[in-house]
Amino acid sequence: MFRAVVLLAAVAGCGLSPPKATAADAQRANVQLAELQDGRTLMVRKCGSCHAPPLPSEHGVHEWPTKLDEMAERSKLDQKQRFLIQQYYVVMAAKP
Ligand code: HEC
Repeated sequence: MFRAVVLLAAVAGCGLSPPKATAADAQRANVQLAELQDGRTLMVRKCGSCHAPPLPSEHGVHEWPTKLDEMAERSKLDQKQRFLIQQYYVVMAAKP
C-alpha cells in the first residue's frame, strides 16, 4: 500500500519525493545498492514524521553528517539506522 502511494507520486511527477537510489549510484559510491535502498526506506519512515522527508539536494555532502547529528537524536536512531540514512544522504547529495 505504502509502496503504491510512493509509486503513484513518482508517476505523477511529484518532485518532492526523495530520489530512489539506482545501481549507478551504488556503483559510483562503491556501496551496496540494497544498503542505499534500505537507507531511503528507513529515512522516509524515521524522518518523515515531523516534517516531509528532506531531499538529499537540500544540503551539501559535508553538511549531512551534522544534520544527522541533530536529527538522529530526535528520530531515536540506533547506530545502524543512522549509518544507513547518512550514507543514503551523502551518496545521493553527491550525485553529479
Ligand atoms: C521529532 C521530530 C523530528 C524528527 C523525527 C526529525 N526531525 Fe528534522 N526537524 C525537526 C524540526 C522541528 C525541524 C526545524 C527546526 C529545527 O531545525 O530545530 C527540523 C529540521 C530539519 C532539517 C533542516 C535543518 C536546517 O538546518 O536547515 C533537516 C535537514 C532535517 N530536519 C532532517 C531530518 C532527518 C534527516 C531526520 C531523520 C533522521 C529528521 N530530520 C527527523 C523535527 C524532526
